[in-house]
This record gives sequence, C-alpha cells and structure tokens, in this order.
Amino acid sequence: MAQTIAVLDFGSQLTQVIARRIRECQVYSKIYHFSTPAAKLREEGVVGIILSGGPQSVYAKTAPHPDPEIFQLGVPVLGICYGVQLMGHFLGGTVAHSKAREYGHGHLTIRKPGKLFAGLPRKLRIWNSHGDKLTKLPAGFTATAVSDNSPFAGIEDAKRGFYGIQFHPEVFHTERGVDMIRNFLVGVCQAKQDWTTKDFIAHAVADIRAKVGKSRVLLGLSGGVDSSVAAALLHRAIGKQLTCVFVDNGLLRKDERAYVEALYQRNFKIDLRVVDASPLFLRRLKGVTEPETKRKIIGRTFVEVFEQSLKSIGGAEFLGQGTLYPDVIESVSIAGNPASLIKTHHNVGGLPARMKLRLIEPLRELFKDEVRLVGAALGLPKEVVWRQPFPGPGLGVRVMGDITAGKLEILRNADAVLQDEMMQSGYYWKVWQSFAVFLPVKTVGVFGDERTYDYVIALRIVESIDAMTADWAKLPHDLLQKISSRITNEVRGVSRVVLDISSKPPATIEWE
Ligand code: XMP
Repeated sequence: MAQTIAVLDFGSQLTQVIARRIRECQVYSKIYHFSTPAAKLREEGVVGIILSGGPQSVYAKTAPHPDPEIFQLGVPVLGICYGVQLMGHFLGGTVAHSKAREYGHGHLTIRKPGKLFAGLPRKLRIWNSHGDKLTKLPAGFTATAVSDNSPFAGIEDAKRGFYGIQFHPEVFHTERGVDMIRNFLVGVCQAKQDWTTKDFIAHAVADIRAKVGKSRVLLGLSGGVDSSVAAALLHRAIGKQLTCVFVDNGLLRKDERAYVEALYQRNFKIDLRVVDASPLFLRRLKGVTEPETKRKIIGRTFVEVFEQSLKSIGGAEFLGQGTLYPDVIESVSIAGNPASLIKTHHNVGGLPARMKLRLIEPLRELFKDEVRLVGAALGLPKEVVWRQPFPGPGLGVRVMGDITAGKLEILRNADAVLQDEMMQSGYYWKVWQSFAVFLPVKTVGVFGDERTYDYVIALRIVESIDAMTADWAKLPHDLLQKISSRITNEVRGVSRVVLDISSKPPATIEWE
C-alpha cells in the first residue's frame, strides 16, 4: 500500500491542482474534507498533511476549520495560503484581517532554505492570492522567506515538521513550486515516490468494482480521448457489465465509424452498440442554417437516440462519463456545493437527470495530460490518445449553412486529404486542430479543358494551449500547396481551397 499524503480541502479551486502536483512527484495522495477527524487520518496511516488554500478568512463565521488534533498527530503539516493562516490561528500566532487582497505575481526571497526550500535559488517569482496574512508567528516557528508584502511568506517549525507558505506553490506561475512540494513530500515526510499511472489504474479499477458491484454501466463513446479512456478503464474493471453506445449522427468524419468499431469491438472486445441514426439527424437538420439551432437539434436528437438505446439493451444502473477535472471546475467540498454536478450533467445534455442513472466518472480527478498517460497504459493507440479535439456536433458545424448529404460528402473527402497530409508530414501532432470547412459558395475554376463552377473548402489549422486563444499555424508553403492541389484534384465538387488566417479572438476556432 502506498503511503498517503492527506490534502485537507478548505474550498480552494486549486486543491485538485495540489493533488496533481503530488502525483507529478509520484507520491500518492487523497483529498479529504477539511473537517476529517485526526483519528481517521491516523487510522489511514497518513504520512503528511497539506492544508489547502481557501476563499474565506479564518475569522469568518462560516470559516472551515480542521480538527485541531491534526497538529498532535506527529506527522508533518504544510499549510498553503489559507492553510498557513490556519496554522497561525491554531498554534498561537496572529492573523490580521485585511480588506485588500494581494493577488498576482510577486517576488520571494529565501532567507533560510531549510528542508522546504532546499536546492532552490534565493530569489523566485511567486503567485499570490490572499486577503488575510500572518502578523505574528506561533511559538517555535521562524520565518524562512519573505515576499514583497509579507515578512512571513515562508515559515517553519522544523522540530515539529510544520511548514507554511503564504503563496501558491501548486500553480504554474510560481517558479519551482513543484520542487517545494516535492521537498515537503520527500525531504520532510519521507514519502516514497512509487505512485505511477499503473497504480492509478489499479486503484481506479478497484473503486469502480466496489461502486458498480454487479450492475450495468452504459457509456456514450464518441471516439474522443476522454470517452475512449473512460471506456477502456471501465472495461478493464467490469468487462461485460459495460455497454458502450456509439451514435452515428451522419456528421462523422470519413471512416470514423469503421475505425471505432474495429478498435473497440475487435481489439478491446468491448460490448459496443453502433446506432445508425444518420437519417434521423439529417432529416431534422434539413434546411436549418442557424448555428445554435443546429447545435440544439443535434444535442436533443443525441439524447433521444441514446435513451432509446438504453431501453434496447434492457436498462442500466450507471452512466459512465469521461468527465475530467477541468470540466468540473467548482470545488464541491464546502457545504457540498452541487455546482460541479450541474456541470457534469451538462456534459451530455442533462442525460443522467432524465434517465435516473447514477454517474460513474473514473477520470474526474485527472487533467488531460494524465488521461493520455492512462489511455496509453491501457493500450489505446497513439491515434486515439493524442487525437485532436472534435466538436460534439461534428461536421454539422463545419458545413456552413444548411446541411445536405452531398455537402457532407465533399467535406468528408476534403478533410480526409487534409488529415492524411497532416499525418504524413507529422504536423498533425504539432498543431492543436486541423480541419476542413465547407463553404457554400460557388466559384469558377478550370479542370482539364473544362470550366468548373464548384464549392470552396477552407483549411482551419490552429495552434493553441487550451482553446481559449488560438493562432493560425504557419505551415510550410509546399505542404499547403500539396494539400490544396490534392483537394482540388481528388475531391469532386471543389474548385478552390482557401486558408483561414484568423486568430482567436476575434474569430473562434470552429466556424459555427
Ligand atoms: P471555439 O470554436 O469555441 O472552439 O473556438 C474551442 C474548442 O472547442 C471545440 N468546440 C466544441 N466541442 N461541442 C464540443 O464538444 C461543441 O459544440 C464545440 N464547439 C467548439 C472546438 O473544436 C475547439 O477545440
């Protein structure tokens, strides 16, 4: 059994990020409710405790407080932000209430490295987000680092193994923050660095089995990274108790359905039901041009088809979902805030609420890059694990204006040429997304000796970190030329190819 670090959650949005950094250090951790009794932590054999940040002041009436006994357990404690104020408050220091929050970049000067700052440069950029601050140290503590606004940005009572940091070491903006966390885990708590993706899978499998028992789980498989990894993980845990449903909405890319069938049915032997609902989708979309209306029709029809397939498999008790932590966002810990559940449901258009299914979300605590590692460890091919994002409404939002089978066919063929060239050149893996867009505009061209009057295909190829902003990718001209000439030569109905050179903002990545 791996040694456990307990992260007590006081309601910070960053608690899961702390857990993620601990995993990066290959140490096992568990997030606990802030009020978890010290006796329980002792029972579970925790080797160290991290007190998370939190939005409240320690003096607030509703401020979350830990069991004071946690300071008597004899295990090291690291307080982060609100966590350090709790230490001050509970151990005899003074915390000053201040109305102005200190928020954003700051500078840290390390005065006394000790175990926490061992091996780090003396000056570092840090990220702050706090209102109150410590003004008098508890007995036994010394200051180890100062920041622009605080003489107590880092504190320690090395004898008792108590450490505090006023800023946020878990966020990317704090230089070497993960080294501070590692120093606490390894240098102070002496935790073993033996927690790997394989261990995550073993734990998740055990959890899924315990939760599901003999029940059945239904999962909507889209073929994207998240649902694919969730399917592979659930299948590893419960095998035939899992049924996956793949809905062909007629808006898929070329050969998508055959690929999904081959991979999951033949390779993974997953009970995969492919529902061909394309005639229904296309009928409902006929003549619809407004993007939001298209999205609503596609979403609603998906829910209907999915519900029917649930009936046809004879019902299920659980709905599996590939929800990731960034989909959850809000913290649930304080007063059981249900916000995160609303978001989760929203993922599949309110499915579970209507279908009265219990949710099972084995990737709920992971970030995207961790999900990719899990997928690879479960044997999913690179093409799935590193797949570019694809919108739920599919080609429905890539055929501008009204959608017809003929336009979809042209788009599918043009997109297949683009993807082929992106794969062959290796650029597929280097950009965020690369896809073709169908423009319902006819322009004149010449093919052989004939005058043509055909449609336009736009190439949308972007670089991005998180899809919030994006820039068009500067691909080599000879590659663009090849893509363009192959599309106009190989795809009937296209006489012109254009390149989208807009960034986001102001343009979005998708055209509709
Ligand atoms: P935009 O077009 O908003 O896209 O810049 C940002 C990212 O989200 C994807 N996207 C969607 N994904 N359903 C989805 O599941 C949608 O309706 C949808 N619209 C956009 C888009 O491909 C890009 O990665």
